[in-house]
Amino acid sequence: MNTGSIRFRLTVWYAGLLAALLALFGASMYFGLASYLEWSLKDSLVKQAQQIAVSHLADVGMTGEDYVVGEIEEHYAPQINSRFVRVTRGDGSVMYVSGTPEDGSFDPTGLPVPPTAPVEASIREVHPPRGDGELLLYTMPFVARDSSRFVIETGAPYDPVESVLRGLLLTLGLGMPVVVVLSIGGGYFVMRRALVPVDDLTQSAERITSRNLNERLPVVKTGDELERLSIALNSMVARLDAAFTHIRRFSADASHELRTPLTVLRGELEELAQQPMLNEESRERIGSALEETERLAKIVESLLVISRLDAGEARMERTRLDLAELTATTVEQLRLLAEDKNIELFCQTPESIEIEGDRARLKQVIVNLIDNAVKYTPPGGKVEVRVTRENDNAALEVRDFGIGIPSEALSHIFERFYRVDKARSRAIGGTGLGLAIVKSICGAHGGKVEVESVESEGSRFRIRLPLAAEKTGSGVNSRTEDDTRPAV
Ligand SMILES: Nc1ncnc2c1ncn2[C@@H]1O[C@H](COP(=O)(O)OP(=O)(O)OP(=O)(O)O)[C@@H](O)[C@H]1O
Ligand SMILES: [Mg+2]
Repeated sequence: MNTGSIRFRLTVWYAGLLAALLALFGASMYFGLASYLEWSLKDSLVKQAQQIAVSHLADVGMTGEDYVVGEIEEHYAPQINSRFVRVTRGDGSVMYVSGTPEDGSFDPTGLPVPPTAPVEASIREVHPPRGDGELLLYTMPFVARDSSRFVIETGAPYDPVESVLRGLLLTLGLGMPVVVVLSIGGGYFVMRRALVPVDDLTQSAERITSRNLNERLPVVKTGDELERLSIALNSMVARLDAAFTHIRRFSADASHELRTPLTVLRGELEELAQQPMLNEESRERIGSALEETERLAKIVESLLVISRLDAGEARMERTRLDLAELTATTVEQLRLLAEDKNIELFCQTPESIEIEGDRARLKQVIVNLIDNAVKYTPPGGKVEVRVTRENDNAALEVRDFGIGIPSEALSHIFERFYRVDKARSRAIGGTGLGLAIVKSICGAHGGKVEVESVESEGSRFRIRLPLAAEKTGSGVNSRTEDDTRPAV
């Protein structure tokens, strides 16, 4: 369990606070009830003694003791009500004492007779010598109208009060943990439900990348911080979207703008190179300037392709086409390139495999991959090109037995301008944009590109593209291209 999580911390706080409040409430209830019960028991003993004194004993001189005893028995029935009543005469002799109560809650026999002249009324707890009940005893001196002195004692067992308190303690002791546990469970559940929208937001936010910035997060309609958060995140995504679009359009516009002056420059240089009165040195210099200009033009063309694909502005003609046939034709057109380097180019395309896509762009993918295979294989080597069907995909594989790619470079080769060996790659005309274009085009077709390579053994590039849906009649598009320039 994550103890730092907001859910855990809130639940702990809430349960702790609840437990503390319940404990406080339980304690005050316990002590409040205890003092109330004790007070009401004392009060009833005091009232009883006063009643005996005023109503029956005051006129004992006139009514006689037997009458008083009868009245007490009749009015208070101490044995039945579990009360203790004793009236002691001024000389210490007992005039009346109640017997053992019927429920046997205490045994009054042997309770010491009070001193003959207690100074004032008192209440105290006593343990009767027999039995185990505790007795609350009120002792009150009284002088009758005929000046005879008495001591009235009224008592009641303390047990009922204690058993009520014990019952309360038990209820609180058992009930409180149950309430706390239930509220922890409930709190955790409620927190979980309350945080579901946050999880949804997180998942949606994780799905948004620079490629789908037009998507938005679900707005949580709760009217609280969560709604504000989702709206704020959405407006941030919108700002990012605008910034990205701006940058992409800028790159596309910049490369487009560079094209014309470069074409003019190339034309001028070509014309200059034709001048008959040029000396050898100048002709060489112009030649190398022309080479650099052509390199620059190639980079600009590649950048334009990538930035247009990025901006989603590239014109993609989606037609049904046969990848096997396209590959075979392209390989034939590139055979010369391979033969120049004395490299054998094998091609295996056994069946017709139909996919949907832009023929010119897919051709560019094949050209770029074969161009790399030939470029990075020493003379005398071989390159194999294969097209196969794999479940719902068409697979194109270009395999060479050349210099290979070091493992630490494998994750970078699809990045723009990345070249493993810059000096060598530059010497053979590489700009580091060919594979970036391959990846962009594959992505735009809903496909994937993978690479496996072992240094100085060779590389294998695999492309997977989704097969075309079942044929609806239009047939295979058989437009041919003769633009076989690599990497553009
Ligand atoms: N078949 C391969 N064998 C060995 N290394 C390769 C192979 N294909 C690509 N690479 C390495 O990956 C780098 C990037 O390839 P990429 O095609 O993007 O650029 P490039 O070939 O250098 O230039 P461009 O294709 O733009 O003319 C290359 O510079 C090279 O180092
Ligand atoms: Mg290349």
